[in-house]
Amino acid sequence: MVSALPLHNGSDPIPSDVQLRVAVVGAGYWGPNLARNFKAAPDWELVGIVDMDLERARKVAGPLGDIPVFASLDALLVGTGVDAVAIATPARTHHMVALTALRAGKHVLVEKPLAASGELGREMVGVAADAGLTLMADHTYCYTPAAIKIRELVAEGELGDILFIDSVRINLGLIQPDVDVFWDLAPHDLSVIDFILPGGLAPESVMAQGADPLGTGKSCVGHLTFELPNNGMAHINVNWLSPTKIRQMVIGGSKRTLVWDDLNPQQRLSVYDRGVNLDKASITAAERKAQAISYRLGDTWSPALPEQEALGLMVQEFAASIRQGRPSRTSGVAGLRVLNVLEAATRSLENGGDRSNVESSEVQLEGTR
Ligand SMILES: NC(=O)c1ccc[n+]([C@@H]2O[C@H](COP(=O)([O-])OP(=O)(O)OC[C@H]3O[C@@H](n4cnc5c(N)ncnc54)[C@H](O)[C@@H]3O)[C@@H](O)[C@H]2O)c1
Repeated sequence: MVSALPLHNGSDPIPSDVQLRVAVVGAGYWGPNLARNFKAAPDWELVGIVDMDLERARKVAGPLGDIPVFASLDALLVGTGVDAVAIATPARTHHMVALTALRAGKHVLVEKPLAASGELGREMVGVAADAGLTLMADHTYCYTPAAIKIRELVAEGELGDILFIDSVRINLGLIQPDVDVFWDLAPHDLSVIDFILPGGLAPESVMAQGADPLGTGKSCVGHLTFELPNNGMAHINVNWLSPTKIRQMVIGGSKRTLVWDDLNPQQRLSVYDRGVNLDKASITAAERKAQAISYRLGDTWSPALPEQEALGLMVQEFAASIRQGRPSRTSGVAGLRVLNVLEAATRSLENGGDRSNVESSEVQLEGTR
């Protein structure tokens, strides 16, 4: 829910013609993408790149106009006035780096997953709420024109009731040192489901199965299933070991089915006016008549999508949520909903794939942004 909240320290909204000052922490694989988008955004002035490996920080900072570099967040905070900090360090460090920034009074953007556990994530959300600061998760896919269009179509009832969601995210991925394939890749699928379903991501329980055929010590292949409202079902397939890359989400509705193929720029979204009709009135308890079932074979169309970089919209939303004192579209609480599902998946894995309850996401923190 987006609602206007008092700004930090009760101050007035920050006018849109005043640039906000931001630093990026973490100049590895992903940080440079954040830095490039902050640099290009009219809302932002990029004032620092932080990495414990200064050489990496310099490599990112140089081409962007010799932005000052720092070996730690503390060094940045001492030497530079910033309004916000964007964190692209490994997941296990998100909590520590975010708390340092929040306690220094800075708004924070954190890469997915929000934290390495639900408990750590809840603390981050609580500290941000107490300070009246924005805590936002970079759930990048929620800012893609495709996800925004899907959310619109679902909200307008174009797909009908959602019967199933099947998401495949497989490729030859980097085996992460600190997280398994669920914590690395499934946040993308989970955050999109959270974004497109009117009720958000709210399963009561999940079941997860994983495999580690190379003996890396963590799941490299994973399947996660959970129920959707109206007896629907979601399935997420994540995999670091697949030589073929697939990024596809199928959203089956009672009226239409949508396929999002993110690797097909000519036709990312296809809407199929096809499906199964079931005349419930003609089904008796004793028998399920074949006549009660019919198939619709209609047209397929592809919604036009603007060409926009998701991270550009994401950094714009970060600025807007700070200026307007409201939760961002992918707030810390949205990040927590994703963490709760990941934690339940981990418990399920530990119990041989048994059903595992998801902690309630009803974290009602006053002033949460
Ligand atoms: N949104 C997306 O689509 C997306 C894509 C890839 C990665 N990510 C996320 O981005 C984050 C970073 O992933 P990556 O692949 O870039 O990792 P990486 O290992 O390539 O880079 C991390 C960098 O952080 C630095 N670092 C670590 N701890 C630090 C600290 N305390 N202070 C300063 N610097 C520190 C390291 O020196 C390194 O340069 C992860 O949370 C990952 O899940 C998001």
